[in-house]
Amino acid sequence: MDWQANVIALMARGFFILGPELDRFETSLALALGARYAIGVSTGSTAIEVSLRDAGVVEPKQEVITSAMTAPFTGVSIAAAGATPRFADIDPETLQVDADDLGNRIRKRTAALVPVHLYGQPCEIGQIARVAKQQKLKLIQDACQSHGALPFTEYGDYVALSFYPTKNLGCLGDGGAILTNKPGTAKRLRQIRDGGRGSGGLPRNQIAYVKGINARLDELQCCYLNAFLPHLHRWNEQRKRLARIYDEMLSGLDAIRLLRRTADSVCHLYVVRAKKRDRLRDYLQGLGIGTGIHYPVPLHLHPAFASSGQKKGDLPHAEKAATEIVSLPLWPQLEEDRVREVAEAVRRFYAK
Ligand SMILES: Cc1ncc(COP(=O)(O)O)c(C=O)c1O
Repeated sequence: MDWQANVIALMARGFFILGPELDRFETSLALALGARYAIGVSTGSTAIEVSLRDAGVVEPKQEVITSAMTAPFTGVSIAAAGATPRFADIDPETLQVDADDLGNRIRKRTAALVPVHLYGQPCEIGQIARVAKQQKLKLIQDACQSHGALPFTEYGDYVALSFYPTKNLGCLGDGGAILTNKPGTAKRLRQIRDGGRGSGGLPRNQIAYVKGINARLDELQCCYLNAFLPHLHRWNEQRKRLARIYDEMLSGLDAIRLLRRTADSVCHLYVVRAKKRDRLRDYLQGLGIGTGIHYPVPLHLHPAFASSGQKKGDLPHAEKAATEIVSLPLWPQLEEDRVREVAEAVRRFYAK
């Protein structure tokens, strides 16, 4: 298998950081996802943090608005850059950030927007990008769950990806990347991810030229990513096929509300709103079917984000959704018959 050949060659080279495997991955990733440049970084979280640092959004007085319904890491990364996260409510039909609500929350302190393309589906990025441009705000797209859904760099200068193992493109550990179409931005991002040291023409002489962090994507992870990337499109198509089976088998159940999905979704997760959600999960667990909740608590209610000043009741759609959502098993290697069995089990639970 390709990854093994890549690992053996890496061991023979003995060169583990910022080497040829990363160069190869950055070139192929940019090409595969319709961007001019890809910059490998250590995680999806540092992809957001490094982007915000480059955008100059690094101070507590600078507010960054993102979705209340996302992985805590979106908020954590904004805080890690030094800015203050604040949250917008979601569209209850899609659970994507509500573009109108996001726009209405912009105020003087707002410096950037971090829309999230959740569960593999693009959010209303056209509208959000227009607002960002009109109001001169930095735009960092969190596409950590949506590899390949759209050529996202057409909407803005920074697109963050995660290669956490369960993602549509995952490595065997932590990894991430930033996509951009701007050569100058790409050059600066490379410098920031490497402790601010010289790159792209500057001498590599252990001088930190700008305030960077250590957020490099190592060669070993690139051995896997280079082997897996050619399968991304096929895996995305398989995720879509499995999601359609769930749709067909679960539609018509009163107790289950399917989310509105667009054709460009790459179906990272299959999430529904379910009555008696926790009892359903216990029932499935009893049958050996694991489920998840993405995410159980909206970010404005996490203690770490209290500085947003937002309280219970402020974002009603996100708060209600968090009590109803459940993620059913979905990954590209999952057999179609297993998906049918899960859907049957859900039907049986509500027939009881
Ligand atoms: C929407 C979203 N944003 C950010 C992240 C952070 O990515 P990572 O875990 O690679 O830091 C993740 C993944 O956990 C995610 O799903």
